Amino acid sequence: MSFLTLGSRSSLVTASLTGQLPPASGHGYFGGTMAHAAARLGTTALRAGAIGVATALVLAACTGDNDTESDDAASQGSDPASVVTPGTASSSHVDNAYAGATMYVNDKWSAQVEETADAAEGDDGDLADAMRDIADTPTAVWMDRISAIDGNADGPGLRYHLDAALEQADGDEQMILTVVIYDLPGRDCFALASNGELPATDEGLARYESDYIDPIAQMLAEDKYASLRVAAIIEPDSLPNLVTNDSDPKCQAADPYYRDGVAYALDSFAPLDNVYTYIDAAHSGWLGWDTNSGPTAQLFAEVVKSTEAGFDSVDGFVTNTANFTPLEEPYLTDPEQQVGGQPVKSGAFYEYNPDFDEADWTADLYTRLVGEGFPESIGMLVDTSRNGWGGEDRPTSAGSGSTVDAFVDESKIDARTHRGAWCNQDGAGLGRLPQALPDGYEASHLDAFVWVKPPGESDGGSSEIDNDEGKGFDPMCDPGFSTERLAGNTTNALADAPLAGKWFAAQFAQLVANAYPEVGAEVPAPRTDADANKPVGAETESSEQAQEDGSTGDDSAAAEGDESAGDSAAGCTAQLTVVNKWGTGFEARVKVKATGPITGWVVTMSLPKGSAVNNIWNGDNSGKTGTFTVGDAGWNGALAKGGTGEFGFVGDGVAPEPSSLECSAS
Ligand code: BGC
Repeated sequence: MSFLTLGSRSSLVTASLTGQLPPASGHGYFGGTMAHAAARLGTTALRAGAIGVATALVLAACTGDNDTESDDAASQGSDPASVVTPGTASSSHVDNAYAGATMYVNDKWSAQVEETADAAEGDDGDLADAMRDIADTPTAVWMDRISAIDGNADGPGLRYHLDAALEQADGDEQMILTVVIYDLPGRDCFALASNGELPATDEGLARYESDYIDPIAQMLAEDKYASLRVAAIIEPDSLPNLVTNDSDPKCQAADPYYRDGVAYALDSFAPLDNVYTYIDAAHSGWLGWDTNSGPTAQLFAEVVKSTEAGFDSVDGFVTNTANFTPLEEPYLTDPEQQVGGQPVKSGAFYEYNPDFDEADWTADLYTRLVGEGFPESIGMLVDTSRNGWGGEDRPTSAGSGSTVDAFVDESKIDARTHRGAWCNQDGAGLGRLPQALPDGYEASHLDAFVWVKPPGESDGGSSEIDNDEGKGFDPMCDPGFSTERLAGNTTNALADAPLAGKWFAAQFAQLVANAYPEVGAEVPAPRTDADANKPVGAETESSEQAQEDGSTGDDSAAAEGDESAGDSAAGCTAQLTVVNKWGTGFEARVKVKATGPITGWVVTMSLPKGSAVNNIWNGDNSGKTGTFTVGDAGWNGALAKGGTGEFGFVGDGVAPEPSSLECSAS
C-alpha cells in the first residue's frame, strides 16, 4: 500500500528529533518530507503550452465557436457568455469579495440538517433545536467531479446553485457563493479517501480542462450571473502535497498536472469580473514549519507567475479546508514559552512547528506571500466549519504540567491524537460561523471565515465501500488503525463513516453538540494580535509599555493618524479607514481603541448628504444616513486599556470625514 512509505516515515522521525521537517496533514493528507526539489524545471515549458490551450478553449467556449464538449454546456439554456479577454485579470474586483456580501445558503444542505434534526428530536430535543438553529448557515458547494456540474445523485448542478443564489439576492443584495474546484488529475495523491476520477496523465489533464474547468468558467461567465460574486476555492490539498509529499510516487506523477491544472483554472477564472479565486493553503499543522512555509509561498508564487495574469489572477488563499485545526489555541500563545526548560513548540504535539493554529498560519503565510511578490490586497479565508473543539473536555485555562508534553496536553483545545489526523475526527465541533472581516485578526488579513466543508459530510469511509467516483479506502479513516504517520497514534476517526462527501448524521450530531462557540452563544473575544504568540497570562509588550508610559502601546494604530479626540482615562478613540471605493459606493472600517479599561463604546458619525450605509457588521447602528451612532456588538465592547475593537460597513455615496467621528465609552 502506498500510504506508508519508508521515506516519509524516516524523515518524520528525523523531523521530530531535529525540529526540522515534520509531518503534514490535510483535509487529505499528511506527509513526511518537504522534498519538492527542482524537478520542476521541465514543467515550465509544459505550462506555457497548456496556457495556450486554456486560452483557446475559454475563448472558444465563450463565443460558441468550438465543437468540443463545451458546446453541450453552451446549449443548456445559457445566455451567450460575456466576452472576456483571455489572460487578463478582471480589473473590477473589490478588495474583499465577502465584505458587504450575503453568503449563499445551500438549501440542499439545510434540508439534510433539518432531516437529521427531526430524527434527533425524540432523543435530544435541545440538540435537535441547535441543529435547526444552524440549518441556514452558508456552506460551500463542491464541484467534486465532472457530473457535479450538471448535477448527479448527490445533488443538483452548478446552475441550480447560481440560480438559487440570484433568487436569494432578490435583485437587491450582493450575494456571494463559494464553489470548490476539486477534480485535478491524480487528485488526493497522498491519500486514498478522496482520490478522483481523472488519472494523472496528459489525457486526464485534457479532460480536466475541457470537460471540467471550461464548462464551469463558461457558466460563470454568463451575463445572467454577472451580479453574483463567486469565490472559487482552488483545489484543496493539491499544491501543499507538492511541498511536502513529492517523494511519494503518486504525488510525483501528479506534480506537473497539479501545477498545470491550477494554472489553467486561474487563467480561466481571472478574466471574469464576478469570480474571485482563493488557492488552498492546507493548514498550520501541515505547512507551519519554516521548512515548509517558505517553500509553500515560493511554490504558490511560481505557479501563479506562470499564469497569463500573474499575481492578478489570485484574490487570496484559504486555509484549513475540510480540516480540524483550531482558529486559535487560546492557552498556547507562544511557541517559545519555556516549560521544564523546553520551548512549548518542542512538545510531541507540535514537533517544533511554531504555528499552532490558523490565526498563526494565515498571518505567517500572508507575510511570506507578500514577500514573494503577491500584492498586499490578497485576503485569507479560514474554513471554520469543524474546528471549534468545544464540549465538556475543552480546557478553560492553561495547564500546570511541569513538562512540555503534560503542559500542552492540558492546555490544547485540539483534542486530536496528532495534528496529522484528518479523517472524521472524533470530538470535533462546529467552529466560528461564516463571517466577513472577522474582528481581531489584523495580522492574518482575513477576508472571511467560511464553512467550506459542509459539516455532516464525511471525509472518507471507515471501511472499504464500492463506488464509481474513484474514491478509495484510506486507513486514516479507520478508527482502529495506528501509524508512524501519526507518531504511532491511532487515527481518532469516527466509526461507521460513509464514503467521502456522503451525509454522516452521527458526525453531524457530534459537531453540533461540541460547537464552539456553542450554537446561539456569543462569540468569544478573539485573541488580539498583540497577544498572539505571547505566554499565557503575560502582559503583551505593548500593553506593559502602555502601563508604564501612558501611551496606547500600539504604534501602528498611532501612525495611521486621524484619530478623533477622546483621551480621557476610560475613553476611546475612533479611526476610520476607507478600504475600498467604487463608482457608487465605498467600504470602510472603524477601529475603536480604548484609552483606559472600558465595558462598551459608541461611535457617532455623520455621512454627507445623499450618502447612506447599507450594510454594517460587528456594530449596532441607530441609523443609516445623516448623523447616527454605531455601538459595539456586545462581544467586542469590553476592551482593556490599549485594546481595539472594529466595525465595518458598506455604503452608497461617499464615506464620512474621518475627523467627524467621535467615540464615547462606558
Ligand atoms: C469529498 C468530496 C465532497 C467534499 C465535501 C471531499 O472530501 O471527496 O466528494 O464533495 O469532501 O464534502
